[in-house]
Amino acid sequence: MKIENRGGKMKVMTVFGTRPEAIKMAPIVKAMEKEERIENIVCVTAQHRQMLDQVLNIFDIEPDFDLNIFKPGQTLTEITTKALEGLEKVIIENKPDLLLVQGDTTTVFAGALAAFYQKVKIGHVEAGLRSGNLYSPYPEEANRKLTGILTDFHFAPTEKNRENLLKEGYPDEKIFITGNTVIDALFHVVKDKYIFNDELLDSIDFENRKVILMTSHRRENIGKPMENIFTAIKRIVEAHEDVEVVFPIHLNPKVRDIAYKVFDNHPRIHLVEPLNYEPFTNLMAKSYLVVTDSGGLQEEAPSLGKPVLVVREETERPEGIVAGTAKLVGTNEEKIYKEINMLLNEKEKYLKMSNAVNPYGDGKAAEKIVDIILQKLD
Ligand code: UD1
Ligand code: UDP
Repeated sequence: MKIENRGGKMKVMTVFGTRPEAIKMAPIVKAMEKEERIENIVCVTAQHRQMLDQVLNIFDIEPDFDLNIFKPGQTLTEITTKALEGLEKVIIENKPDLLLVQGDTTTVFAGALAAFYQKVKIGHVEAGLRSGNLYSPYPEEANRKLTGILTDFHFAPTEKNRENLLKEGYPDEKIFITGNTVIDALFHVVKDKYIFNDELLDSIDFENRKVILMTSHRRENIGKPMENIFTAIKRIVEAHEDVEVVFPIHLNPKVRDIAYKVFDNHPRIHLVEPLNYEPFTNLMAKSYLVVTDSGGLQEEAPSLGKPVLVVREETERPEGIVAGTAKLVGTNEEKIYKEINMLLNEKEKYLKMSNAVNPYGDGKAAEKIVDIILQKLD
């Protein structure tokens, strides 16, 4: 199917495939829908299926093209080749003036490469993040760098991201500091006095319990590091009667196997299905602290004033650490245990980390990105 160009508008195709890309692309899609000079074409690879559809529903986005590439247990090569093949067809038929990708997943790299092969201009949203280690996060650090090489417009969330790109030799006039669109999405869904309409979540006494929200899914953590993280959490719950854990588990069966093995039905550790974006972020807003290896959570938690312990060896998001809300604690069981224990026992240290700061943007990143697109493509 081909989308006809209505009245000489500029055609912008957004391509995304996973949960975090959808969340962060949604504010841009919505902003472009309102802009009459833009013909907005949404193409999802569906690298994720259920976790992508959850976000499409929440933001009321109906893709024009759905490549439906998802397969349980998919390999990186399968995602790359299926996405490339599907995108080639859609790009040739629709000839966009600009193709937007977001972040660092395999869909992002395949999207940029598919556009490059057709000589279509590329905008990279969330450009310039670097951990400095090609294998951590894996394969995301490589995806970002490979995408950067092909990009015409780098939409960098922070000054630090801009500096990373300048260091790699990208010209300043192609880099635009915009903030991260995840903050736009977050402001859209977090509410005062939120009710979950979920038996378990509504039954948690957030006033008198210290609720730890945790997520973990990174490929490089799967195996021993993830076992360490989960064991530290379990020990914490056993040592503190007033602590409760909510862990919406990623659908990756490798993550699930480790979680079920370590946690074995503890009454104060709630292993739940991936939550919709609205309940998830409101759960974060009500929690005591966050333990995660996720990228998006490192950006959202500071905005909500929640201390976040990052269970990874490196991070490409140092801004939260500089602001004092995030701490990189690695994947050593004892270290994670001690750091959580400290935040539970030492009020002063906890309060120091729980200031709401916004190093990742002011909630207007999508607007800025659309303005730049209009200026540059006009
Ligand atoms: C991908 C991204 C990662 C991102 C993460 C967000 C790559 C290489 N990795 O990792 O950067 O942080 O998404 O969550 O692009 N699954 C389902 N249903 C779904 C989604 C996943 O069943 O809706 C299961 C499947 O068994 C799948 C596995 O999870 O094989 C892993 O999914 P995949 O997209 O390959 O990688 P993620 O680990 O999700
Ligand atoms: N998220 C969600 N439901 C969940 C867990 C996470 O909506 O059960 C959101 C979270 O708020 C963040 C994004 O998903 O915006 C992070 O996705 P993920 O951790 O899968 O990927 P990453 O950010 O690490 O690439």
